[in-house]
Amino acid sequence: MTKLFERTTINGMVMDNRSVRSATWEGMCDKDGRPTEKLASCYRDLARGKAGLIITGYAFVRPDGRQMPGTLGIHRNDFASDMRSLTLAVHDEGGRICMQLVHAGGQTVARMAGRRPLAPSAVNVEQFSEEPEAMTQKDIDEIVAAFGDGARRAREYGFDAVQLHAAHGYLINQFLSPLTNRRTDAYGGSVENRCRFLLEVYRRVRLEAGPDFPVLVKLNGSDNVEGGLDMSDAVFVARALDDEKIDAIEVSGGTPVSGEKGPVRRNIDKPEREAYNLEFAAGIKKAVGCPVMSVGGFRSLEVINKALEEYGMDYISMSRPFIREPLLISRWQGGGTSAATCISCNGCFRPGLREGGIYCVVDKKKKGA
Ligand SMILES: Cc1cc2nc3c(=O)[nH]c(=O)nc-3n(C[C@H](O)[C@H](O)[C@H](O)COP(=O)(O)O)c2cc1C
Ligand code: SF4
Repeated sequence: MTKLFERTTINGMVMDNRSVRSATWEGMCDKDGRPTEKLASCYRDLARGKAGLIITGYAFVRPDGRQMPGTLGIHRNDFASDMRSLTLAVHDEGGRICMQLVHAGGQTVARMAGRRPLAPSAVNVEQFSEEPEAMTQKDIDEIVAAFGDGARRAREYGFDAVQLHAAHGYLINQFLSPLTNRRTDAYGGSVENRCRFLLEVYRRVRLEAGPDFPVLVKLNGSDNVEGGLDMSDAVFVARALDDEKIDAIEVSGGTPVSGEKGPVRRNIDKPEREAYNLEFAAGIKKAVGCPVMSVGGFRSLEVINKALEEYGMDYISMSRPFIREPLLISRWQGGGTSAATCISCNGCFRPGLREGGIYCVVDKKKKGA
């Protein structure tokens, strides 16, 4: 039995193995962010396939934090029964489900956000397609509160954990990055100040969700962008969260403007190309006491086992492999040893935008559907 299949606990949440379905926008919700039966069925399949923890696609905490169509929203009380259908579907299969909470900040457009996008600073950088509006203290306080409300709802609806999306160039990452945070108040400048917004969000989420509820974060080890968050900043942020008892840190890297070093890299066709954020995760692992998850390009058992055993990773997260093979972990648990069949072409985004939900287009073509 390899380390991958060990049973573990994160702040009371028992997970059957060390695999995580990393947050993956599914594009399966209605225009308001209400989840559908199709989304519940997607999570049921992942739980059947023995993914140790399923992290939902990013759920916006306020409508002005929405980026993509079909995204989950955790901003309203009247989605309660549909939300419970998601958690029930997973729990019926013995799985665990964590809701990822996001505000897209400046990384959206007015058409999706319903207003001029908000960001730490009104800077026109490549990352923002429209010049965002700099947030006031009132905006900051209200968004911090919205994250807390989202976490409280998630717990009420039966989610086993929440994860703060602090990576990939969204609002929290924008505060962390000197490139997008040009503020001269207590939220900008030094890394202590750039980290303040994240810590305020975390503390409010912790307050609303309670000390006995797992609160995770997805953090970039580096933005892989000139002038953005770097590894030394990321270590500082990880330590600050660890000191405040974050339950686990999932380490990613890159933003949509990182070019070939973005979060969702293509052509992971040999072991050397796999695990492209592992060095960042290993650096953060050395600095903190909480469990660390590594995400980005894991495809083969060989590389997964190495990350767990030689790099000391606590969990391995994957996104695209589970789109093609929701039953991937049970296949490996059953003795299959071949790598995930996903060819990392990123074709799965398109049906999310145009056909009411992501799926593996390569697989569909192969089956002749
Ligand atoms: C269709 C799609 C949607 C994604 N949506 C999210 C998301 O909502 N939140 C997030 O943190 N990352 C998201 N990601 C990034 C993945 O979680 C992951 O970090 C990245 O794909 C690298 O992992 P992989 O090589 O296992 O796919 C998404 C990726 C894909 C392909
Ligand atoms: S379309 Fe299929 S093969 Fe291509 S990245 Fe998505 S899941 Fe992988």
